[in-house]
Amino acid sequence: MEPIQITPNVWWVGAVDYDIRDFHGYLTPRGSTYNAYLIVNSGKTTLIDTVKHGFEDELLSRIAKIVDPKKIDQVVSNHAEMDHSGGLPEVMRAIGPDKPVYASAVGVKNLDGQFKGAGLNLKAVEGKLDVGGEELVFLETRMVHWPDSMFSFLPSQGVLFSQDGFGLHLATPERFDDEIAEDIWGPLALNYFANILTPYTGPIGKLIEKVVADGLAAQIKIICPDHGFIWRRAPSRILELYARWVQQKPRKKAVVVFDSMWHSTEHMARELTDYLAKLGLEAVHQNLKHQHRSQAVTECYEAAAILVGTPTINNQLFPSVADFISYIKGLKFKNKIGGAFGSYGWSGEGAKLAQAELKAMGYELPADEVRVQWVPQEKDLEPLKALARAVAEAVKAVA
Ligand code: FEO
Repeated sequence: MEPIQITPNVWWVGAVDYDIRDFHGYLTPRGSTYNAYLIVNSGKTTLIDTVKHGFEDELLSRIAKIVDPKKIDQVVSNHAEMDHSGGLPEVMRAIGPDKPVYASAVGVKNLDGQFKGAGLNLKAVEGKLDVGGEELVFLETRMVHWPDSMFSFLPSQGVLFSQDGFGLHLATPERFDDEIAEDIWGPLALNYFANILTPYTGPIGKLIEKVVADGLAAQIKIICPDHGFIWRRAPSRILELYARWVQQKPRKKAVVVFDSMWHSTEHMARELTDYLAKLGLEAVHQNLKHQHRSQAVTECYEAAAILVGTPTINNQLFPSVADFISYIKGLKFKNKIGGAFGSYGWSGEGAKLAQAELKAMGYELPADEVRVQWVPQEKDLEPLKALARAVAEAVKAVA
């Protein structure tokens, strides 16, 4: 396994996971990477982040092409989540268990909690670290996206090590933004942002403002995230997209997300999608029987409206719809208009429960839920048309 040189003394030494598809419940159809970086100076060698457990040999074999792993003097952990720290105990055994591992103060606690008994020599960073004739500067990025998260910046070369920030899940042999077209990486970057960073758009927005106000943004020449590829041609492009996405500004778009038992709720969803499109919205149909929750959420990200369809099963929401609602509740979308609908046989709680969940999430609900008993007939579709009209009107008022 070969390392990849980024600057005269900074190397990518991470791992490529072509096969991962379930990333803690988030679909990664094109795999991912666990990026780690090596700063090699005559005075000191510093490893930044490690890899998921199981990929330690890949990391160590790339490092060994540059330097004997035992010559590494220190490790920096920008983020304690297991995809970047799971390999830490084994990597430390290879490079020397007494070598210091620097992390934020919360990172020290998290790593200690995760690797009890591993004997890691954990140290909290204090602003800067000598990496051999130059300094690595730390920037606390709490809740972007964990309490321990921090960025590291190498001012001499304008290299920002941004842990999960500015990442995306894509396993390829290419390592740089100029090697992959935006029509490939753009949807993946939004998918990553929507599923991982949506709850933290507030802190991310403030971080971007601070980075610009402090003049750091102008100094950044290369961004090295912990997933995906390295931004060397246009780091400003991903910064620009983040500055847009943190606003959660609604577009004239509505997503109809549903599941169905015997095609009746599906029939309603199809009609609703058509009505919304006829009313001038970009209308997107997401059947949870075929579409993963994380893909549906990506469609929802910049949509002004989310319409949730569910049958009733044992007086409850349909399980896949309950799963979707639980997922979007955690993501805490802002500025959303909602609506609920569904067919039922006898008790019919499903659509009411969906409507109540959307209300509890703070969505604007321009109409009551629409319920149809048994199989929808033409006359049953009038309330659905009224729901579409009310949603379209509300969307046009904000987008
Ligand atoms: Fe890639 Fe938050 O870990």
